[in-house]
Amino acid sequence: MDVGVASRTRPTGYAVHSPGAGPEPVGRVREATPTTSSRASIPSREIRLSRYGGPEELEPVDATARAPGPGEIRIRQRAIGINFIDIYLRRGWMPGMLPLPGVLGMEAAGTVIDVGDNTGGLLPGDRVAYLCPEPGAYRSVRTLAARHALRLPHDVDEETAAALLLKGLTADYLLRDLGRVGRGTRLLVHAAAGGVGSLVCAWAKHLGATVVGTVSSEAKARVARERGCDHVIVARDYRFAEAVRAHCGGADVIVDGLGAAAVAENLAAADRRCHWISLGQASGPLPPLDADKLVMKSMTFSRPVVFDFVATATELQERAGRLWAALAAGVLRPPTPELFALDAAGQAHQRLESRESTGALVLVT
Ligand SMILES: NC(=O)c1ccc[n+]([C@@H]2O[C@H](COP(=O)([O-])OP(=O)(O)OC[C@H]3O[C@@H](n4cnc5c(N)ncnc54)[C@H](OP(=O)(O)O)[C@@H]3O)[C@@H](O)[C@H]2O)c1
Repeated sequence: MDVGVASRTRPTGYAVHSPGAGPEPVGRVREATPTTSSRASIPSREIRLSRYGGPEELEPVDATARAPGPGEIRIRQRAIGINFIDIYLRRGWMPGMLPLPGVLGMEAAGTVIDVGDNTGGLLPGDRVAYLCPEPGAYRSVRTLAARHALRLPHDVDEETAAALLLKGLTADYLLRDLGRVGRGTRLLVHAAAGGVGSLVCAWAKHLGATVVGTVSSEAKARVARERGCDHVIVARDYRFAEAVRAHCGGADVIVDGLGAAAVAENLAAADRRCHWISLGQASGPLPPLDADKLVMKSMTFSRPVVFDFVATATELQERAGRLWAALAAGVLRPPTPELFALDAAGQAHQRLESRESTGALVLVT
């Protein structure tokens, strides 16, 4: 796919939530002039977490971003993807991954300001996006290893990239590598109107699957249907197994980001030889699994993390290539993420935790 540098515009109709205010337009922060020569730290704004807890612990502060060392790039970030893992980290569920004080965020998109040696051809001025297993994306300028980044196609803007990259690559490995989803696969997708869920539904439908989705409201059911769900089950209380069996006889593959509250119902919704993919725990941490529960239906179980599926530059490029191609072909719709100013990260977290959001949430700087 053609890649290059392009000017960026926010599509008409996008609104941004600012701190303590309703939706309103946000001004662009100062632009950095691309250079290869700057060795100095430069000003950045970041959302610091000094204590695990609720959204109120997310504190916007002024900071600096150091010059890139060998193999590193420094990026003026324009759009930062919010993912549910940010909430687990904020709550302190994975303290080894985010020691305090720390900065959340696994992905962002923007423009390279300057580079160190050996950055795989990335240059100042390149528009890039990245996902990175070390948190730290909630900031306006970030220095990080170039191997996590890729150039953006000219027709993909930064907000689209931040809304799609981590979630779309997740959909790719779920459907292709773990679920091996194809014509006739009976696929059960939880949170089917959510960031990952809506992409999984659309892509799975294109691959010929019968897609059954669960959501918590009628409004979300409409979104899930638009995204390709054949059958939508509205089940805010996580009771869906009976309806799944009624719709399709049982699931061959389950994409489960719910965790604790859905364990028994997932086991009941599965058909023989079902593959249950537990990728998240929005309802609470998954309790230890009794393997004997799987043997009753010869089920298999996986507990994957996206970063292990993009561990090499080649794999990252291949998966991203499929994602941009799916977007260009209309298999995946251009996302319309809900935008929040960087300083309003706490509001964005409240929104994601409220179970009211659909699609992706993105911070803009
Ligand atoms: N392992 C990986 O590689 C990987 C990568 C990306 C995401 N994930 C996981 O995939 C899942 C979806 O992530 P996402 O970022 O796209 O989020 P999301 O689906 O946009 O939002 C989470 C959704 O979970 C549902 N939910 C059910 N119980 C909930 C509760 N008690 N509190 C909050 N939400 C609840 C809600 O949908 P309903 O109201 O419709 O039920 C909510 O909209 C998460 O579990 C995440 O950790 C895993």
